[in-house]
Amino acid sequence: MSLIKSKKRVADHGEVFTSAWIVEAMLDLVKGETERIDSRFLEPACGSGNFLVRVLQRKLAAVELKFGKSEFEKRHYALLALMCVYGIELLADNIAECRANLLEIFADYLNLNKSDDSYRATSYVLWQNLVHGDALTMRTHDGQPITFAEWGYIGKGKFQRRDFRFDVLTGSSAFSAEGSLFAHLGKHEIFTPIKTYPPMTVSELAAAAHGGTPKEAA
Ligand SMILES: C[S@@+](CC[C@H](N)C(=O)[O-])C[C@H]1O[C@@H](n2cnc3c(N)ncnc32)[C@H](O)[C@@H]1O
Repeated sequence: MSLIKSKKRVADHGEVFTSAWIVEAMLDLVKGETERIDSRFLEPACGSGNFLVRVLQRKLAAVELKFGKSEFEKRHYALLALMCVYGIELLADNIAECRANLLEIFADYLNLNKSDDSYRATSYVLWQNLVHGDALTMRTHDGQPITFAEWGYIGKGKFQRRDFRFDVLTGSSAFSAEGSLFAHLGKHEIFTPIKTYPPMTVSELAAAAHGGTPKEAA
């Protein structure tokens, strides 16, 4: 695989992809986290997903080990694994490739067809988690503040979602630094979600993929 698309893109955007063996070696530095289904990974310059693809594959291997015998649990924990993978990428073609690469791996693992609710729910999650934007300005390609969904699985087929602004999340170290005015505050006092949703099933997430806006929790 070529590690560059063009010299111009290298000069303009520093676009040099990481080779597979370096990705493996770097992920091995945090091996335990890559094999934990609900550990969260954010790649702020994710390209076409060289790191995120391998993170997802490692997480899915963990799902298989733990839940491989129950189709219901396997499907839901696999989706949770995907929900914990996040990326930001400046270039439209790269973010599209990144979403497609992760979707392909996920769909292969669960043998999904395009018409399955799980496939459509997965597409929806990928569109939320993999953002076309600028990680430095923390804004989307159309100028909005980047937000990320914090997903959780609460069992019985239901997922929870709360949205947070990326610029607020990245301020966490400053808030908790010794001597900061906010050092005494708990994380829940600093990190207020901008939106909280009622628990959602895979079918409800799939409906959201087709323009059905998920409701906000009362
Ligand atoms: C060195 S490449 C690495 C891609 C991928 N992480 C990998 O290891 O294969 C850097 C990527 O960051 C993107 N990029 C450059 N500046 C960025 C920014 N401010 N915000 C988000 N992505 C950016 C580039 O378009 C490029 O795809």
